[in-house]
Amino acid sequence: MKIEDKLTESVLRGVKELYGADVPAKMVQIQKTKKEFEGHLTLVVFPFLKISKKGPEQTAQEIGEYLKQNEPAVSAYNVIKGFLNLTVASDVWVELLNRIHADSRWGIREAAADAPLVMIEYSSPNTNKPLHLGHVRNNLLGNALANVMAANGNKVIKTNIVNDRGIHICKSMLAWLKYGNGETPESSGKKGDHLVGDYYVAFDKHYKAEVAGLMEKGLSKEEAEAQSPLMQEAREMLRRWEAGDEEVRALWKKMNGWVYAGFDETYKMMGVGFDKIYYESETYLEGKKKVMEGLEKGLFFRKNDGSVWADLTSEGLDQKLLLRADGTSVYMTQDIGTAEQRFADYPIDKMIYVVGNEQNYHFQVLSILLDKLGFDWGKDLVHFSYGMVELPEGKMKSREGTVVDADDLMEAMIETAKETSSELGKLDGLTKEEADDIARIVGLGALKYFILKVDARKNMMFNPKESIDFNGNTGPFIQYTYARIQSILRKAAENGIVIPQTIPAGVELSVKEEGLVQMLADFTGVVEQAGADYNPSVLANYAYDLVKEYNQFYHDFSILREENEALKVFRLALSQNVGKVVKLAMGLLGIEVPERM
Ligand code: ARG
Repeated sequence: MKIEDKLTESVLRGVKELYGADVPAKMVQIQKTKKEFEGHLTLVVFPFLKISKKGPEQTAQEIGEYLKQNEPAVSAYNVIKGFLNLTVASDVWVELLNRIHADSRWGIREAAADAPLVMIEYSSPNTNKPLHLGHVRNNLLGNALANVMAANGNKVIKTNIVNDRGIHICKSMLAWLKYGNGETPESSGKKGDHLVGDYYVAFDKHYKAEVAGLMEKGLSKEEAEAQSPLMQEAREMLRRWEAGDEEVRALWKKMNGWVYAGFDETYKMMGVGFDKIYYESETYLEGKKKVMEGLEKGLFFRKNDGSVWADLTSEGLDQKLLLRADGTSVYMTQDIGTAEQRFADYPIDKMIYVVGNEQNYHFQVLSILLDKLGFDWGKDLVHFSYGMVELPEGKMKSREGTVVDADDLMEAMIETAKETSSELGKLDGLTKEEADDIARIVGLGALKYFILKVDARKNMMFNPKESIDFNGNTGPFIQYTYARIQSILRKAAENGIVIPQTIPAGVELSVKEEGLVQMLADFTGVVEQAGADYNPSVLANYAYDLVKEYNQFYHDFSILREENEALKVFRLALSQNVGKVVKLAMGLLGIEVPERM
């Protein structure tokens, strides 16, 4: 039983005995004692004054004395105004640590057979270019959120929508046909997504040149853009794609295949994955069908040019295009089709979309449209909206102007981790393989932690240098503390010390040690909060606080050199469980911790 619950029962018994009244349990307010006072838990006595018919201090005094006499968990008390500060006995803390010690997945709830099914969509790239810094934040948040939802006892399906068709893909394809000379990932040694992205850039370059040329001949910008032969060819290609033209489809398959192989590498390096991937090319027709159904039912309307729209003015929004005049679909159309498909495939209880806040309006509209179309889950879809992430000016900023490539960024982080770690002598005596693995864990840990510790809604600056500082609120600082704990445990084992399954009671604990046990116990609540608020950052900040507290303890107390054997065992078990919980918390964030560094 939780200490708070045990105390609540005793308080209820005490109030009954002292004042002869039965009171509801919710009257018992127990909080953590403020730092400046002595004690662990504090009872607010004001609600009992009506019953005790005495002043707050006297009431607190009486309940405190009752608890000290009758509740073994309370070893001392003091009264500050109407607040009764209680000191919880050392044995209770040992008992609590034992409970944590016995549970290798402390704080993590497994999904029951009838648990709700949560589908989380994240990443969702377009296939015309590689993943960039924005996708990094997206992938890290989506993956962490999926872990958090699962740790709260939900069944989770991680999904992705790949926007694999449309004019932007045709641009890369056309440029490759025109300027590619048959280049392939194999022939060039380029990662497939980078190769295709380079042709997207090439298209843009040639197109801009064309438009400029036409404008020199006296055309306006609009006219030039409309008459650009390149753009017309790209449009023609899209029409052929939609018509199922074999040549275009084959090229499309080939180039998308290169892109997927590239994405897979990026995802693997990042440590993220999916249970089910949807492709726009396979859902957009379904979306068109749904829109046509809506039109027939009078939910939508047709304009004179033939385009189909939803009128959301009565919802306080504007009119929204659903099908173009030529019948082709838009971004929204495929989202309707994809949603339909997903709910047909799985008994989804909650759908979460991890998409940047520049699409807030899109998801507001999607929710209303789905609702109008009769999907009862439409209203409740969750748009997990996150802010922009930027990089400060510097050497990592950009091959192509301002876009920061995800692969380049991860590589640079790992390289920096290698340099920093070897400067600090942390890689001495390791094989190259071990050193490389640690550099990977630390470099990616720095990147992931720095991004995930920030509230997702906020815009942020990713500062590579700061992120890898071994002494700040960083991934490497937490990883280093974890590795230090493992080193202590290895030494203990070498000295023949075995940490028993049950830590014996009867040790006298310090405030620091009790505080650490309390923090470990708090982990369950932190996981719950992260899930209830869709907020992985609380886990990051919890891990940092825990590690900071542990380092102070490590600094102030001896562990292996402690002479009292029982105390030594307690401190080792405490260290081991701090390590365990740090690993679990970081694991939920998708961050590995090294056994040595
Ligand atoms: N591929 C889109 C983009 O890059 C994001 C897709 C987000 N998900 C969705 N269901 N609309 O902007």
